[in-house]
Amino acid sequence: MKEKITVIGAGHVGATTARRIAEKGLADVVLIDIIEGIPAGKCLDLNESAPIEGFNCKISGFSGNYSEAKDSDIVIITAGQARKPGMSRDDLLANNMKIMRTVCKKVAAVAPDSILIIVSNPLDAMCHVALETTCFPKNRVIGMAGILDSARFRAFIAMELNVSVENTYAFVLGGHGDNMVPFPRYSTVAGIPISEWLSDEKINAIVERTKGGGAEIVDLLKVSAYYAPSSAAVEMAEAILKDKKLILPCTTYLDGEYGFHDVFLGVPVKLGISGVEEIIEIKLTEDEQIDLKKSATSVLKLVEDMQRLKK
Ligand code: APR
Repeated sequence: MKEKITVIGAGHVGATTARRIAEKGLADVVLIDIIEGIPAGKCLDLNESAPIEGFNCKISGFSGNYSEAKDSDIVIITAGQARKPGMSRDDLLANNMKIMRTVCKKVAAVAPDSILIIVSNPLDAMCHVALETTCFPKNRVIGMAGILDSARFRAFIAMELNVSVENTYAFVLGGHGDNMVPFPRYSTVAGIPISEWLSDEKINAIVERTKGGGAEIVDLLKVSAYYAPSSAAVEMAEAILKDKKLILPCTTYLDGEYGFHDVFLGVPVKLGISGVEEIIEIKLTEDEQIDLKKSATSVLKLVEDMQRLKK
């Protein structure tokens, strides 16, 4: 039997994720949305591209029919609402919290052994909601952020140096927000630290551009990014399904690691068939520790806000 990935939310990120999974031949895909017609329409269009692209995965789209997600190996959740003009941060948080809770209840009922990859924002907060709602073990609720932020960091390094992106390696940890923590010290080009390639000034500029990477895309597109986010989610799914034991920066539940408790934060993890199989604790400098703490504090603040909004 082929592996099965369900993608919830058939918007920009969800549909592009479905397409990438199919084109890689990774698994059969079920695409679910609340809107009538959209998931079925996008899947039909994708199926019609299959003879040309040459993929053989089954892709099917449904509106609200979660029974089709039954026994999925992986569920990628992209459902959510974008911030609209005049909408407060709290309104957005409350809406997306509600959506995440509804989706997770349905997913847990039909695919209780699945591994969840959370993409919806605010990412770290949504991971908390998913863990609390599904009661899945912590290794099976994983947030997509670090791979995306690191890919942006890598792309900017490659652009600056006019070298192949394949030569670049970079790490961005912490929360997926203004307080994310790019780690220039662990970032290299052809295995050589970037400090040997770039001045401090240039590195700082790349770090700042990485932190504002999401906003830079929104300014241009007027909607949030979807090509790179879907690539990142699919890299996680592939590492899990193929049991790669790949070390990637992902948002995971920390229970004492890095000195933090009861908080989802981006750190390097080993991804394999069980989801997060190990949390890799790298040595941090004092400054890096301070930055990571700041990031954890802002995630915990969102969790507090959600408690307040629940009342
Ligand atoms: N169940 C299923 N789908 C839902 C639900 C729900 N309860 N609520 C909303 N959706 C769907 C919407 O109908 C929409 O099709 O989620 C989809 C979101 O798609 P877009 O608005 O295009 O948003 P997108 O750009 O795909 O981003 C999705 O990923 O990167 C993050 O910040 C981004 O949180 C956002 C998410």
